[in-house]
Amino acid sequence: MLDIALDNALADHKTYGNIDLQHRLFAQLRRDDPVHWTQPDGYRPFWIISKYADIIEIERQADRFINAPRTKLLSIEFESKVREAMNGRPMLVRALPQMDNPDHAKYQKLTHAWFQPRHIRTLSERMTALAKESVDRLFAMGDRCDFYGEIAIYYPLRVLMTILGLPQEDEARLLKITQAYFGGGDPDMQKGSDLIDATIAYVDYFKDVAKERRQHPKDDVATVIATSEIDGRPIEDFEAYSYYVALASAGHDTTSATIAGGVLALIENPDAMARLRREPNLLTDAAEEMVRFVSPVKHFFRTAAVDYEMRGKTIRAGDSILLSYPSGNRDEEAFDRPFAFIPDRSPNRHLGYGFGIHACIGRHLAKAEIVAFFRELLSRVDRIELAGKPAWTETSFLGGLKRLPVSYSGR
Ligand code: HEM
Repeated sequence: MLDIALDNALADHKTYGNIDLQHRLFAQLRRDDPVHWTQPDGYRPFWIISKYADIIEIERQADRFINAPRTKLLSIEFESKVREAMNGRPMLVRALPQMDNPDHAKYQKLTHAWFQPRHIRTLSERMTALAKESVDRLFAMGDRCDFYGEIAIYYPLRVLMTILGLPQEDEARLLKITQAYFGGGDPDMQKGSDLIDATIAYVDYFKDVAKERRQHPKDDVATVIATSEIDGRPIEDFEAYSYYVALASAGHDTTSATIAGGVLALIENPDAMARLRREPNLLTDAAEEMVRFVSPVKHFFRTAAVDYEMRGKTIRAGDSILLSYPSGNRDEEAFDRPFAFIPDRSPNRHLGYGFGIHACIGRHLAKAEIVAFFRELLSRVDRIELAGKPAWTETSFLGGLKRLPVSYSGR
């Protein structure tokens, strides 16, 4: 492929609606130009880092490669709309992904304990109940459904609402906002809304939550954020709302995409499905393999704070860098048979949750959710197969399947 055509394809949301094309283009980069300078039409230029070892090298040096100035790929046109909507600010929210130290550590600390395995274990009964509800719903729909749109999208949102402490009647509203937020460029998902409107809708929703929690504190993450102090002063509203938006958005489609992608991986690997049915204890390994295999977060950006040499190229201070997690997770030098789904892959130090100080704070929660879901699903569904063509969300940032037609039987 010609350079500019390749660069344009790498930035184009549509590329990511074709999962084979996505993997092919990144395999080409890993082979031919793993530290790739790119200038797609309509975007500010950036480097693409596609090798596992290079992504880790960058992520472990958070002082040399910072987050704040540019966190994800947006077109120039979109970046100027954001500035317009935010009175000159270059970002819609300021949460952990938009922060560097010392602030990052201060804000991360606020919710740290809530996302540790010790606390996650206290949610296990609730998660099992929600997983059971999902499988009940599956059978209530008959013997076929769209597994992504009718099952997978509800479950993580419910878990998240539990941890944040949000009432069940808000589910439809939050689901709508989250989907608009993550529609990226996908016409099926966006339904006329866009990221700016969706962020404003989130903030409107969470403003009321924060106000209510300040008046009537509860034992939940929403209260922790609303009533927290930074440097001895109450958290600013913008940062509080941003925190909520980050949790609600980051904790949702990541997990539903992994679950739907995991179901597809098992359908395509019947031996793996049979094995997990026989040995459900392997689900803790399989959950990691699903995250590696699906890699629903397609990138985050860093900005170089210093000049830096990598594979004979000079990254200049101020340059933007896209870290491709799906590519790192398919790197032939890091994984044995990277394109195979191996439920008990070991070791499996994948990059699906990122790496370093910004590594996903929700990873223990996500893992517990995935395990609880598949434990319930595989114990009750005896047969599940494709009943149509799967389709992937057209987004360069975050997403996976947007349609997974299946037929099934069980109890
Ligand atoms: C399978 C599910 C999930 C995947 C694949 C995933 C993936 C990721 C990735 C790749 C990052 C960026 C890491 C980096 O910059 O190195 C991240 C950050 C983050 N995730 Fe997750 N995530 C998942 C679930 C969740 C859940 C359930 C929550 C919370 C409820 C969550 C909250 C966050 C937050 C707040 C950040 C920002 C962390 C920071 O910048 O310090 N994620 N996640």
